Amino acid sequence: MHATEFTTSAREEPDYRFAAVVAGLGTCLPRAEITNSWFADRLDTSDDWIRARTGIAARRRAGPDVSMTDLACAAADAALRSAGRTKVDALVLATTTPDRPCPAAAPEVAERIGQGGIPAFDVSAVCSGFLYAVATATGLLSAGLANSVLVTAAETYSRIVDPDDRSTAVLFGDGAGAVVLRRGHAWEQGALLGFDLGSDGASWDAIHVPGEREQPDGERWFTMRGRTVYLRAIERMTTSARKVMKDCAWGPDTIEALVAHQANARIIEAVAHRLGVPSEAALCEIALVGNTAAASIPLALADALDGGRLKPGFRTLLTAFGGGLTWGSAALTWPQVTPVRSEL
Ligand code: UT7
Repeated sequence: MHATEFTTSAREEPDYRFAAVVAGLGTCLPRAEITNSWFADRLDTSDDWIRARTGIAARRRAGPDVSMTDLACAAADAALRSAGRTKVDALVLATTTPDRPCPAAAPEVAERIGQGGIPAFDVSAVCSGFLYAVATATGLLSAGLANSVLVTAAETYSRIVDPDDRSTAVLFGDGAGAVVLRRGHAWEQGALLGFDLGSDGASWDAIHVPGEREQPDGERWFTMRGRTVYLRAIERMTTSARKVMKDCAWGPDTIEALVAHQANARIIEAVAHRLGVPSEAALCEIALVGNTAAASIPLALADALDGGRLKPGFRTLLTAFGGGLTWGSAALTWPQVTPVRSEL
């Protein structure tokens, strides 16, 4: 460690712990956009209801020739380009909409983006999947098992949501996001400074796709107890984010970007309000993509960066909640990283 490195620290005191540092951000969205009026023409719903209750105006849908794995590959490749890297040591993929039950998609993604041979596996934590995958990757980096990890989150909820169920069909969109994490130090910009993860398996059926044994006949669509999930999401994301803020000694008024899982604009507002985070810091990027489950945080980061609502040096708090039930939070100072975007 050279003495001059102390002066580059964004924190008051140098910290010699190894940390995962965000080095690249990539996204991929399917090209086809489905507007609220598309649903209003087919279901007992309206553009007004969807906008007012969720903040969603449109979402993207993967065409029949685009798979979750295709979206994951494109986002992962974009993240590598954003990081200016050609190689990583491991790949962790968060998804709850795999193209097939077995094997995991991560080895195929690694192979297709020129990283064949590296350790690669899937993480299934529904909408908290990205943060669970980032925490897992941080473990690999801290343990010295890898010097760089590609964390990818990709979803095709349009394949599991009943198109005739107005209570779920209007909410979800398809998409993918990815970050490159490298082994660095806690005092660097982009270092992940704290984590909180949790689960509540007693409520496993609040967000649920029935298995073959539960429902041997007929179609097995995604179901959600919307109101219960709404209330739990606010409660759990608030508690979890608060723990991370306490660990980092970050007061609510010092948070410059709160990137919560993008399920509903009203949930995001409520979490910011309860935390006491300034309302302008609560980034709501849901309008044009809807709820993209595990992919929602990296997609929101890219949209906020492109829109100038997130800037390098911002104290950034990430928090997510989803099926399982699962939740998680993390904190970082946003680094000098420019997203690379792609479409399929
Ligand atoms: O990503 C994982 C985490 N997911 C979430 O965090 C989602 C959490 N839940 C939510 O965001 C909200 O609960 C929803 C957006 C799903 C629903 O909004 P809400 O304000 O909680 O509405 P509600 O479920 O209490 O339903 C109110 C009414 C119901 O009609 P009645 O019973 O009052 O006659 C619903 O049938 O709205 C009806 N409704 C709709 N009406 C028009 C439900 N969906 C629709 C729709 N269009 N698409």
